[in-house]
Amino acid sequence: MASPTLGDHPTAGDTGDQSRPDGVRPPPPPPPPPGPVARPGRPPVTVPQVRAQKRRDGADPIVMVTAYDEPGARIADGGGVDVILVGDSLANNVLGYEDTLHVTIDDMVRHTAAVARARPAALVLGDLPWMSYHLSAEQAVTSAAALVRAGAEAVKLEGGPSRARVIEAIVDAEIPVMGHLGLTPQSVLAMGGYRVQGRDVGSARALVDAARRVEDAGCFAVVLEGVPDVVAAEITSVLSIPTVGIGAGPDCDGQVLVFHDLLGLGAGPVPKFVRPYARLAEVATAAVAAYAADVRGGAFPGEAETYHGSDSLRAAFAGPEGGAAGSGAVG
Ligand code: KIV
Repeated sequence: MASPTLGDHPTAGDTGDQSRPDGVRPPPPPPPPPGPVARPGRPPVTVPQVRAQKRRDGADPIVMVTAYDEPGARIADGGGVDVILVGDSLANNVLGYEDTLHVTIDDMVRHTAAVARARPAALVLGDLPWMSYHLSAEQAVTSAAALVRAGAEAVKLEGGPSRARVIEAIVDAEIPVMGHLGLTPQSVLAMGGYRVQGRDVGSARALVDAARRVEDAGCFAVVLEGVPDVVAAEITSVLSIPTVGIGAGPDCDGQVLVFHDLLGLGAGPVPKFVRPYARLAEVATAAVAAYAADVRGGAFPGEAETYHGSDSLRAAFAGPEGGAAGSGAVG
């Protein structure tokens, strides 16, 4: 992104002074309003549109990816995704925590607002973090409203029948809700780790029932994370709302991946269900190493990256006394 005060393409003779003649900098433009403002050529994606994206009805698969900031949202939107999830995986991928239990509603509001400032055509989905909807329906609606006021157009929350009441309350407040079932990372302590869910017939049936329950509570779609392919296929077939899978096989109505996994930005091995489409951490590390070598070797900055002084400025500092002539300092 260009520096807020200097142009990013200095040219020979450019002193870099962007001030007005009276020396006063113009005020920065006001931030864009959050909400579905389309980029040229792409209409904004809406909740009813996503709600209708059942593959069995001939719809295209839903493409969803996480993003946590303005550049990430710009890249995701430029890639043409349908939904940008400001996931609570912010915790692991950006803030350096071990799990998602450490992000707060304030963290999610700040990052949802950053994503919304990209004005993506993709639907902005804000994730409700742990303990922002567990205490009461009123707390859940208040938290969901905070995300909407930050720029989210819908919210996502984890859990099945035990969350039906809060889903109903949020939907009743006119805020669309996406459910999240299976391996729900906010339940890491209760699950005893990150484990694929619904592996036996009993727990698989319970997942199907939970999916029916969140649909009945008013969810417009549901994420299925870390469940066997056949269970995801069964849930997808019994629901009228779309399913969005992550580690749930190919039969869901859509797929979601974490931005950092998809782009190879993370450290360490990725889970089985991830396909890295790039290795940007390697590219970025090599770029920083090249910069470091150039600075240490005197190759950066060069002519093209330098603001050149005018001839008169140059003359003032030329000659035997150099800087002392211009400054009046005694050498
Ligand atoms: O926060 C997140 O990244 C998520 C996805 C895994 C669905 O909830």
